[in-house]
Amino acid sequence: MDAYEHITVNSSLEPIGAEVSGVDLSQALSSEVIEEIHAAWLKHHVLFFHDQDMSPQAQVQFSANFGELDQYKFMQSVDETPYVIPIIKEADAKMNFGGGWHTDSSYQAIPPKATVLYAVEVPEEGGDTLFANATAAFEALSDGMKENLLRWQCVFSPKLVHGSSGFYKGKEAEKNLGSSYGGDESFAETEVLHPLIRTHAETGAKSIYCGMAHTVNIDGWSRDDSLPIFRYLTDHLTQDQFVTRFKWRQGSLAMWDNRCVFHYALNDYHGHRRHMHRVTIKGEKPA
Ligand code: SIN
Repeated sequence: MDAYEHITVNSSLEPIGAEVSGVDLSQALSSEVIEEIHAAWLKHHVLFFHDQDMSPQAQVQFSANFGELDQYKFMQSVDETPYVIPIIKEADAKMNFGGGWHTDSSYQAIPPKATVLYAVEVPEEGGDTLFANATAAFEALSDGMKENLLRWQCVFSPKLVHGSSGFYKGKEAEKNLGSSYGGDESFAETEVLHPLIRTHAETGAKSIYCGMAHTVNIDGWSRDDSLPIFRYLTDHLTQDQFVTRFKWRQGSLAMWDNRCVFHYALNDYHGHRRHMHRVTIKGEKPA
C-alpha cells in the first residue's frame, strides 16, 4: 500500500495501474482528496475504483475535478449530459467498441489527456480491458532506437477507424456499436501531425504515442514503409511485462492517462450485454 492520507491505494497491480478504495466518487470531493487521486494517477497511469454508484451527472462532476471536459465526435451522448457517451455491446452484436490497441482520440489536434470509464452493466465473464504502459515500453528500447524515434512526427487521423473506408464501415456499425454511433463524417477524414514519442506535460516522461488504430504514416514516409515500425512498437508495447488486465464489476470506474497508456477492450463475451459510460478530459497539444 502506498502512503496517502485520504485514500487507500493498492499498487500491487504492476506493471501498470493501482486500485483505489476509501472514497465515494459520487460525492463532492475535497481538494485534498482530489490532489491525492491526481498524484496516484500520475504515478500509476490508470486508477481503478470498485463499488461506485455513478449517475451520468456524478461521473461528469467527478471528471471535471481534473480538467475541462471533452466531447466525443463519433457517438451521441446520453440524454442527461453531452459529456457522457454510452459504449454498449448488445448480446446479439459481434463487434465491440475499442477492440484494438489505441489511446483515445489521438487523431484530435488536442487529444483528451484522460478517460473516465464507468461500468453500468458487465458480463459475468469476459469484457476485461487491457492497459499497456507506454512509458515503460519506451524506456525499455535501446538508445539508438530511441534517438531515431524521437526525431519523427506522424500523421494521425480518425479515418482508419471512422472514415469512409475505415474499420467500422461496412460492418453494420449501427447494429454492432449501437444507434448512438455515427457522427462527423468530414472530421473523420482529417489529419494532424503529432510526435511519434510524446513527452508527458506533467511528468516529463516520454512514451510511445503512435499506434495501429489512428496513426497513418510517419511524416514524409509512405504508409507501407511506416507500418512495420508501428507493428514493431505495438508488439513491443503489448508484451505481458507492460500490460495489466482489468476485470470490471458493475460499478467499477477506471481513469486512465491517454498520454502514456494504450488500452484494448476485449471482445470475448458474445451473447452477453456490456454497457459502459465514458467521459474524456481535455489535454494539451502533444509535444
Ligand atoms: C474505449 O476504448 O474507450 C472503451 C474501452 C472499454 O470499453 O473497455
